[in-house]
Amino acid sequence: MGKNTKQTKVGVDIGNTRTVTIVMSSDHETGDLTVLGYSNVAQNGMRKGMVVDIDETIASIAQSLEEAERMSGIPIERALVSIGGGQTSSANSRGVVAVSSPSGEIGKDDIMRVIDAAKAFSMPANREVIHVIPRSFIVDGQDAIKDPIGMKGIRLEVDSHVITASSPVVKNLLKCAYQAGIDVEEMVLSSLAASRTVLTRKQKEIGVVLVDIGGGGTNIAVFEEGEILHTAFIPVGASHVTNDIAIGLKTSIEFAEKVKVEYGAATTNRVSEKDTIDLSEIDPSIDKGLISRKYIVEIINARLEELFMMVKDELRKINRDGLLPAGAILTGGGSKIEDIVEVARESLRLPVQLGKTNDSIVSIDKETIDNPSFSTAIGLALWGFDLAREQGGMKNIIEGFRGSMKILGKIKNVFKKR
Ligand SMILES: Nc1ncnc2c1ncn2[C@@H]1O[C@H](COP(=O)(O)OP(=O)(O)OP(=O)(O)O)[C@@H](O)[C@H]1O
Ligand SMILES: [Mg+2]
Repeated sequence: MGKNTKQTKVGVDIGNTRTVTIVMSSDHETGDLTVLGYSNVAQNGMRKGMVVDIDETIASIAQSLEEAERMSGIPIERALVSIGGGQTSSANSRGVVAVSSPSGEIGKDDIMRVIDAAKAFSMPANREVIHVIPRSFIVDGQDAIKDPIGMKGIRLEVDSHVITASSPVVKNLLKCAYQAGIDVEEMVLSSLAASRTVLTRKQKEIGVVLVDIGGGGTNIAVFEEGEILHTAFIPVGASHVTNDIAIGLKTSIEFAEKVKVEYGAATTNRVSEKDTIDLSEIDPSIDKGLISRKYIVEIINARLEELFMMVKDELRKINRDGLLPAGAILTGGGSKIEDIVEVARESLRLPVQLGKTNDSIVSIDKETIDNPSFSTAIGLALWGFDLAREQGGMKNIIEGFRGSMKILGKIKNVFKKR
């Protein structure tokens, strides 16, 4: 009898418009990654990364879990969940400590203390740390050290990227997840999860920006020298495009969404003046006749150009405008619109590609792989395997600080007591 070498992780991406669940297995002998089940259901309880309707949010998560359980045949008890960028903020922070051992040899304990020190920067009340990601260590002034354990020194410093979120936002998300029936193994910033799926090590090494165009907004994550440099939320997303179309056509949001998905494109470059859309094909009860497709595409183009200009501004703030050799990688449901790469390339003046999963993942059905709507949920599951794999090693101590597990643990108990 062969022993079980498989492990399962579940990612639940609680987005502003959809809840996506991915059940994935990893065989630690063969390295095979397999999607065993998934679901993608509407989410109407979230806005800008924040729970605005608890019942709606719970109902959507519960339905998503149920569908993914049914498909995979696996009961879901724990999962990694996403937190959107809308309510988070990030800063690069440095921690400093004196090396504790008399021999001057740096140990795990020093690493833990220095990361803790990086966390203790002045944080406004009512916020909590979601991730402390060490970017590099400095030993007695010598910088760019990736793993200082075993080195000798007096003064140990860490350069880290710290992501914080508003505490009530975190608590409400956790509450919804627990009430929908899962324990939260880890909470991960959605753009970091998506980066895990679609960015390669090489791209992160030479410099790249992930652009996750979601419903409620766009999250970006900039990597350089293999490490996270900057994360930001831009309050323009794919639903703004839909709203513009609804205003332009004087129709409902639902109708405008269909027009966008069926007939939309990001640039008018290949749209002829004579191209028409028959709106009655979308809704037979509407008798509006033919409209110009170019008109719709111009509306979409204007909003997307604005969005990419905002991405460019964000890159300018960190002095990386036009400077990232691996360019921009697009993901999120909003990146599915035809010709978006072309518009992004012209606006950003960078190489641009659509995100593809960088691991070879097998799925029970092709729908999930390379689908921009699934990149965050897939990344959450991959994040779970990474954490498990690194257990015991040096990385584990570092990665362990990524999640605010102590805080999560406490909150979990509060809900369990009821
Ligand atoms: N084929 C398509 N063409 C154009 N837009 C699409 C298409 N499919 C989905 N979208 C858009 O993608 C958006 C949803 O993207 P996604 O599923 O990534 O959002 P989300 O994760 O719920 O949102 P957020 O990341 O803001 O929390 C919707 O606004 C939808 O209109
Ligand atoms: Mg999303």
